[in-house]
Order: sequence, then structure tokens, then C-alpha cells
Amino acid sequence: MTYEDAAQQLRAEEQEHLLRFWKTLAEEQRRRLLEQIALLDFAAIRRMRALLEQRAAGVRHGDAVPADVVEMLPQERAAATARGEQELRAGKVGVLLVAGGQGSRLGFEGPKGAFPIGPVSNAVLFHFHARKVLALGRAYGARLPFYIMTSDSNDAATRACFAEHGFFGLDAGDVCFFQQGMWPALDPRGRVIMDAPDHVFMSPDGHGGLLSALASSGELADMERRGLSTIFYQQVDNPLVEVADPAFVGLHLLRGADLSIKVCAKRDPQEGLGVVVKRDGRYGMVEYTELTDEQKQRRRDDGELYFRYGSVAIHLFALPFLRREAETELPLHMAHKKIPVCDDHGHTTTPKAPNGYKFEKFIFDVLPHADTLINLVFDRHDEFSPVKNATGPDSPATCKRDLIAKWARWLTEAGVEVPRGADGHPLMPVEIDPAFAHSPASLRARLARMSPPDLSGPLWLRDP
Ligand code: UTP
Repeated sequence: MTYEDAAQQLRAEEQEHLLRFWKTLAEEQRRRLLEQIALLDFAAIRRMRALLEQRAAGVRHGDAVPADVVEMLPQERAAATARGEQELRAGKVGVLLVAGGQGSRLGFEGPKGAFPIGPVSNAVLFHFHARKVLALGRAYGARLPFYIMTSDSNDAATRACFAEHGFFGLDAGDVCFFQQGMWPALDPRGRVIMDAPDHVFMSPDGHGGLLSALASSGELADMERRGLSTIFYQQVDNPLVEVADPAFVGLHLLRGADLSIKVCAKRDPQEGLGVVVKRDGRYGMVEYTELTDEQKQRRRDDGELYFRYGSVAIHLFALPFLRREAETELPLHMAHKKIPVCDDHGHTTTPKAPNGYKFEKFIFDVLPHADTLINLVFDRHDEFSPVKNATGPDSPATCKRDLIAKWARWLTEAGVEVPRGADGHPLMPVEIDPAFAHSPASLRARLARMSPPDLSGPLWLRDP
């Protein structure tokens, strides 16, 4: 792109200010800036400006009622597990991890997936996701491709983390990294914000950016080429997740769902989980922030919360549904944020109060397009304890505690007595490498072939 091309386009888009420092820039800076302008998605920017003018997302019509949920009984679970295992054995299940976020609440330098969480090993978050994929591949004698969405800000560091750890034992050819899109932010007048004289501020386009990124990177085509039927979706911050749980996969297939979602009872009415609803005959996700206090507190006759179940972003997608959605435009969501900005003298400052708007796409905006959607109830103690904040709830401390409690339950189930304190929590940290055992049954089988584990100190059962 030449200066003239850029100037013409920016004039047409009312964004000429991006070139206002041109005369002061060195050759290399000019080249970088033109490169960045060439990559700006002006169609998206026009949508952002329209949203900004409305100052609110489109009004939703109709009353939202909680969507039906499935609580599997043992017989249905057994049938679903058998069906899921059949699909895993046939190599038709792929695993997807969205890891392009910025993890600003945690405040960790580097990709969130490189955050150490193993209570004994200090293994990083990526370790737990990758080793579960490895364990499933071994258990079902199949290749499970592992797709990892990164963003411009953490792609190189994510790849380096996998390389440094020998891909956590996975075949590098089955680990597919792809980058989501990056979007500019707008000031209240709809002007793209620059954070340096030669640079436009950019941030990831949200987990909903997954769909366009899958298509543009060629990974969607890769999934089709591999003959996959089902894609398991998870977030990087929850190491308790049961990756491609066969019962979940099987239920999804037996019911012919476009999309399946694991939901759990909310910890309390204020917990920040979205709820799956039906509105005007279609499914939808109502975000925590969209519920009034009265709606959050509302109770059913049996005393349970009316909006009882929350989604924790554990999903299954039928591949044809993903393809269809990749060709559909998702709505934009806008957030008022503090954005570093370059003043007219070329100095960058980060304001103390929000000064601009970031825009994102959310993956759950596909819900209204799903004809068949399953909400499977799961026990949160077994599968959900995210690392969101540096301290307090949903922090590394609570996540480690919940990991230890889960593995201790597996050990107890396998007949190993774990010393516990008065509160029932294990007295020492325990950790099970998912490649050592990825379920209570595989743990029992593994332990049966070795001498009893030593529980006089921290216990780390790992695959050699
Ligand atoms: P969160 O909503 O928790 O955002 O992401 P975050 O960026 O990780 O953390 P905060 O809000 O800045 O503290 C949920 C999941 O979605 C992924 C994250 O990597 C995480 O796995 N995500 C989020 C993306 O992949 N891309 C995005 O643009 C946003």
C-alpha cells in the first residue's frame, strides 16, 4: 500500500488522522504504519461506528426463559459413553482451545496458558489441556488434532511454550496453531485510536473471532479434510475440564445436536456465568451483566434459582454447524475501556478513566442459529475452576485447591486413602498427570500395576 492509497482510503473512511504524524516518521516507521493500515478491516470499523452511534447493542425482543437441561441417568450415560467412545476411536473428534485472550485480570506476563498451575509440578495450564489430548489419543488409539487459537499478542510465546515442553508429548503435526483477528478501538467520536505516532492500538477480536479465524487460517478445511464430525471447545483457564468427555460427545451425537453446552448450578446468584435461554423460539445466551438483580435472585417454587444453570464455555460443535457459522457475521459487543493513546504531540499516555471503546465478538452469539442444542448438567467440582483473577475467587489458589480435591477423590475412589484434615481437604498436595490417568477408571488400572503411592508428602503421579 502506498501513502497515496492509504490517504485516499482513510479519507473515504473519515480516519485521516492516522497519517497525521507522517512527516515526522522515519522510513521504517512509515512502512510499518502503512502495513498496519492495509490490514485494518474497514468493513468491521464501519459496523463498530454504527454500534457506537446507537450506544447500545440491538434491543432484544421477547421474554427469556431458561432453556431445558439434560441430567443424564446412568443408563443414558452408559449409552452416550459408548457412542462417544466409538467416535473417539474412529478419530472423528477434534479438540479446540481458545487461548488468544489477554488475561488482564490475572496480570501475568505471557500467554495465560503458560501460567504455572500444577500444585506439585508447577506445570503450566497448557500442560493439562495437551496431556488430556495425549491421554485420549492413547486410550482410543486415534489421532486427535489439537487446534489452538492464539492472537498477535501471544502467538509467538505460545508456540515457544509448546516447543520448550516438547509439545507436551503430542505429535507436533497434530497441534495446529492459528491466530484470531485483531481489531482497533474507537474514541467516542468514532475515530480509530493510535497509541504511538506510527501505530494503531489493536486488541484481539474476542473468542467469537474463532469462526472467521478458523476459516481464514485453513484450519476449518483441515478439520473437514481429516473427516472430523465433532469439535470440542474449551477455554485455556480451566485445567479441570474433562476434554472431549465421551458421555458428552455421545449425547451430542445421539441427539443430533448442532451445539452442546455443559452447564452447572451457579455457585450463588451473583456468579458471573451466562445462562442459556429460549427466546421467541430460539436459543440464546443471557450474559450475567444483562440480568437485573431481581432476575438473578428470582426463585422457582422448589426454592432453586430460576436462572439456575450457568455456562462455563465447554461446548461441542457439529462440524457442519461450525462451517455454517463461519460464513455468518456475528454481532459486535462494545466495552468502554482505558486505552493507551497518543496525543497530538506524539506522547503516549494511559488514561485513568475509560477513554475509548473496544469491540469483540462472542462465541455464544451462534446459539440462536442452532436448531438442536443440548444443555448437559455437570458437577462443577469435577470440571470447573477457572483461573481468572490474581487473588480471591477464581484465582490460582482456588484452582489448585480444586485440582487437589478432584485428584484426591479419584485416589479415594481407586482405594488409596488420602490423609485429610478436619475440613476434608487433603493434608498434602497431590497431582495426577493426565497422561498417567485421565479418569478414575484409568487411575485404578494404573495403580493396580504398581506399588502403593507414598502419601507421606506431596504426591505427583506422572507418566514417565
Ligand atoms: P476471558 O473472557 O476470561 O478473557 O476469556 P481473557 O482475555 O482471557 O481475560 P481478561 O478478561 O483479560 O482477564 C475466556 C477465554 O476466551 C479466550 C481466552 O484466552 C480464554 O481462554 N479468548 C478471549 C480468546 O481466545 N480471544 C479473545 O479475544 C478473548
